[in-house]
Amino acid sequence: MAETYDLILAGGTVVNQDGSGARDIGVRKGRIAALGGIAKDAGGERIDCKGLHILPGIIDTQVHFREPGATHKEDLETGSRSAVQGGVTAVFEMPNTDPLTVDAASLADKVKRAQGRMHCDFAFFVGGTHDNVADLAELERLPGAAGIKVFMGSSTGKLLVADDAGLSAVLKAIRRRASFHAEDEPRLEARKKLRVEGDPASHPVWRDETAALMATTRLVKIARETGKRVHVLHVSTAEEMKFLADHKDVASVEVTPQHLTLAAPVCYARLGARAQMNPPLRDARHRDALWQSVANGVADILGSDHAPHTAEEKAKPYAASPSGMPGVQTLVPVMLDHVNAGRLSLARFVDMTSAGPQRLFGIASKGRIAVGYDADFTVVDLKRRETITNKWIGSRCGWTPYDGMKVTGWPVGTFVRGKRVMWEGEVVTPAQGAAVRFLETLSAGS
Ligand code: DOR
Repeated sequence: MAETYDLILAGGTVVNQDGSGARDIGVRKGRIAALGGIAKDAGGERIDCKGLHILPGIIDTQVHFREPGATHKEDLETGSRSAVQGGVTAVFEMPNTDPLTVDAASLADKVKRAQGRMHCDFAFFVGGTHDNVADLAELERLPGAAGIKVFMGSSTGKLLVADDAGLSAVLKAIRRRASFHAEDEPRLEARKKLRVEGDPASHPVWRDETAALMATTRLVKIARETGKRVHVLHVSTAEEMKFLADHKDVASVEVTPQHLTLAAPVCYARLGARAQMNPPLRDARHRDALWQSVANGVADILGSDHAPHTAEEKAKPYAASPSGMPGVQTLVPVMLDHVNAGRLSLARFVDMTSAGPQRLFGIASKGRIAVGYDADFTVVDLKRRETITNKWIGSRCGWTPYDGMKVTGWPVGTFVRGKRVMWEGEVVTPAQGAAVRFLETLSAGS
């Protein structure tokens, strides 16, 4: 008798750890149950994926969804809606909300808020501070925790550990890989006067490449002293990439699509404060170096640093304008356009968005298309020509820095644990996101 599945993705090109090829995928109980040729008479809902590529579900390990505290910009429902519209199947959300995610109660509150409201799977970072060092070992192991995040330089929100002693105490306290926003706070303070009122092009002058390099250098030194692994978020400079190439044993590296795509001075002239983020978008020399790090492997993963602010907030004159831009929905189309332009291979894109996050963060049963793994898929049409518009954006902020950009390559389907969540732009299933599980914190009986 023929096998029966809950779902069959038929005739697509599966992009996987062993290359690309035409394969059917059979899904049962949210997991991949078969991979290869599936009999024509096999039972189950059959989705025709001919002409489409099926990638392991995209995992975006850096998003800010603003709930609780700033839900006029975004909330867990709208942020995750935007994610699945863009083909993203899981997100790691940042702790700079209000209240900050810095204790067990605030983490549990986010996990509770996410249940039945988030469209993709989720994990939440816990902010490391001077005050919660003693609790970090316990906090990083709680259900739903992606690990510890530390701001070394001030950005949106009140999280900050600017001193070496504080960083060392955080790293000594924990076992998992922690994530860092690496900009040197004393240098940022000293150079604040270099901001020019009304001119966002002065943002990278204030928060210069030296501020980024100083923080990254200090971080890696402390990682070595304490024998810990660190993840450097949104690396933005040529000098950091050169430095990090010598420290791949202890430091992993994230790059963002916006640092790879937009560059000063044009981005500030065209987008004004909408191009303002921390660390800043810099000139083409740095952008070229980031591409080199994609090519040579120094960069491990892509993260969107989705950081929505309203159009009104962004319209304030610099430097009253807040830093950050949305990106969770545009990660896939913007990067597929780069794939089509020959700037990276589709295999490298998969490496940087599923296998890479799985490797760095020890995600359980996600990150590759293999029997037994979660049935998380990002289905893309590599040849489809589309224009990214503000109208398409599901984020509450309602805008994108890529408005009007023509791209080749588009996400047409998002599957989370076997459920078709998005198809042809429509969110088609009620929210059923669940907490991501991690190898280091699997609990007994889970
Ligand atoms: O530009 C940024 N915006 N960088 C950050 O580190 C935080 C983010 C936000 O939350 O707005």
